[in-house]
Amino acid sequence: MGARHAEAIKNAPNTRLVATMDPDERLARELAGEAFYTTRVEELLARDDVDAVLIATPNHLHDVIGIQAARAGKHIVVEKPMAPTLERADRFLAACHEAGVALSVGYSFRYAPEIRAARRLVEHGVLGRLLSVQLTCYLDKPPSYYGSGYTNRVHSDWRASMEKSGGGVMIMNMSHQLDQIRYILDRDLTRVTSVAGVLDSPAGVEVEDAISVSCEFQGGAIGNFFGTCFARGIDNQIEIRLLGDAGSIVLERPFRFLTLRGMDGVASGRWHAFGKLPKVDVHMTYLAWFADAVFRGKTPELSGQDGRAIQAWLEAMYESARRGRPVTVMPPPELVSPQAAVRRS
Ligand SMILES: NC(=O)c1ccc[n+]([C@@H]2O[C@H](COP(=O)([O-])OP(=O)(O)OC[C@H]3O[C@@H](n4cnc5c(N)ncnc54)[C@H](O)[C@@H]3O)[C@@H](O)[C@H]2O)c1
Repeated sequence: MGARHAEAIKNAPNTRLVATMDPDERLARELAGEAFYTTRVEELLARDDVDAVLIATPNHLHDVIGIQAARAGKHIVVEKPMAPTLERADRFLAACHEAGVALSVGYSFRYAPEIRAARRLVEHGVLGRLLSVQLTCYLDKPPSYYGSGYTNRVHSDWRASMEKSGGGVMIMNMSHQLDQIRYILDRDLTRVTSVAGVLDSPAGVEVEDAISVSCEFQGGAIGNFFGTCFARGIDNQIEIRLLGDAGSIVLERPFRFLTLRGMDGVASGRWHAFGKLPKVDVHMTYLAWFADAVFRGKTPELSGQDGRAIQAWLEAMYESARRGRPVTVMPPPELVSPQAAVRRS
C-alpha cells in the first residue's frame, strides 16, 4: 500500500514526497524515487522538511510508529485500522492530542463518489427514518494472501496473526465499508452480537475468514453484516443496503435509490440510478483533503476520532465473537477538542 500512497502523494496538488522509510533498504529506495530514503524512522522524523507522515506498515506498528511521529510533532495519516486493539487506538489518539498534531485514519474509500452521493441522499431525507442496514462482503482470498498479500511485494506473516493484524476479513477488508456506513448515516453502532470462525484458510491462520454480526444503531435501526474470504466465483462482491420507512439506497452496481417522499425532480416510488458519477482517485483525493486541513489548522474531515469510532465497532464485534454474547460499543474517551488542538503546518 505504501507504493500506492507514494504515487498519490506525488499526484496530489498540495503534497510532495520528501522522504521514505522502510527497514528493507531496497523498498525504501524504490518508493523514494528522487526523494530521500532511510531505514531508520528516527532519521525520517528528525527532518524539518517533513510536515506529515503516512504510515502504511503492518497493523501492529501503526500506533507504535504513530506515537513516535506525534511526539516528533508530525501530522499523521495512518493506514486502517488505527491499531490492532481499541486500547492502543485510544493511546494513539491521546498522544496526537497531546502533541497537537492532526491524525487521520486511511478509510479513503469514503471519498468514492457513490458514497458522497449516498450521504447527500440521506441528508435530503430519501430514507426517512432509518430502519435497517445490510452489508455483505464476498471475497475469495488465495492461500498466498496470508504470506504476501495481493501484491506479492513483501513476504511476511502479519496478516495471519491475530496479534499483529487484529483480525481477518472484518478488520482487514470490511472496516472500509463500516466507515462508509458510518459516514453516510452519521450515526454509530451501540451494540453487536457476532459469530466468527476460521473455516477454510491455510494452516496457521488465526484470523477469521467468515464473520456474521447482528447490530443495533443509535436510533434503533438493526443491521446485519456478513463477510467471507472463501466465496468461490464471487470474489470482491461487496454490497451495502440502507432501508428506511420512506425509501431504500442500494450500493451495488448500478447504484440506485427509491423514495416515497416528494422531492424535486425525483419521481416517488420508483428506482433511480445515481446518474453519472465522476471518476475519482480516492487515495489522492483523500490525501489532498488531509493536507488542506493541515495547512488551514483544521481537524481533517476523516479524523482520528472517526478511526477510533470504527475501532470501537471492531473491538465490540471481536469481543462478542470471543465471548458468545452481545457487547456494547465503547463510547470515545473525553479529549480536548481536536479542532482547537491541531497545529497549523
Ligand atoms: N486502504 C487500503 O485499501 C489498503 C489496502 C491494502 C493494505 N492496507 C493497509 O496498509 C498497511 C500495509 O499493508 P500492505 O499490504 O502494504 O503490507 P505489506 O506487508 O505488503 O507492506 C508493509 C510494509 O511495511 C514495511 N515495514 C515493516 N516493518 C516496518 C517498520 N518497523 N517501519 C517501517 N516500515 C515497516 C515492510 O517492509 C513493507 O514494505 C496495512 O495496515 C493494511 O491494513 C490498506
